[in-house]
Amino acid sequence: MPELIEVPEENLFYAYDVLLMETKHRLVKKLKKYYEPNVHGHKTWSSSFLLMDYFLHNNVMKRSSKVLELGCGWGAASIFCAKKGAKVSGLDIDENVFPYLEVQATMNGVEITPIQKGYEKLKGKELGEYNILIGADICFWDELTELLVKLIRRAMRNGVKRVIIADPGRSPFLDLVESCKSFAKVSVHEWYSSDPEMYEGYIADIKAI
Ligand SMILES: C[S@@+](CC[C@H](N)C(=O)[O-])C[C@H]1O[C@@H](n2cnc3c(N)ncnc32)[C@H](O)[C@@H]1O
Repeated sequence: MPELIEVPEENLFYAYDVLLMETKHRLVKKLKKYYEPNVHGHKTWSSSFLLMDYFLHNNVMKRSSKVLELGCGWGAASIFCAKKGAKVSGLDIDENVFPYLEVQATMNGVEITPIQKGYEKLKGKELGEYNILIGADICFWDELTELLVKLIRRAMRNGVKRVIIADPGRSPFLDLVESCKSFAKVSVHEWYSSDPEMYEGYIADIKAI
């Protein structure tokens, strides 16, 4: 029999066993008075659920995984990985997303190391400390494509084996996929997640050659 899981209070929800806040949640309302994310990090984006589903089906997260989430926002995917035992850092250019990440990580009993930085500021050596990079809905402007392609190339030159990015299928993401084919093995999958509801998009699974 499946377990009936109740959310502890209003405006919280579960996705793939991660407890998350809706934008109407009382703590979000309070945090918004002091921290207003301004680069689209104002909610959990559904591409995070695509990542969670992909990780589950492909047994991607291990206790030994060292994960960096790029453009982590409120950190839903990071929290999922940390709950599987991975050591996780969340990077975002917008310092105002981290209080939301911190609250959600605490609600789920995990710790995520916050890194406030833009993609171009991440040095190869720093990237080499991770074995997997992940990102959900992070390639939404044309100028982000080049920044992220360069980052992925830097990361792979420094020993990162795998980069997994979920996206609704915007053209900057599709351009990123094409560019990465010149230095990595790239597979793109149409994917859907079914928790907290049905959502369709794409996963780019980029492996070092
Ligand atoms: C659409 S949100 C997605 C957030 C989160 N991944 C999710 O799925 O809920 C994009 C995130 O990328 C961050 N971001 C945008 N440009 C960035 C850059 N140049 N370097 C680092 N983070 C960036 C934003 O601050 C925002 O949190």
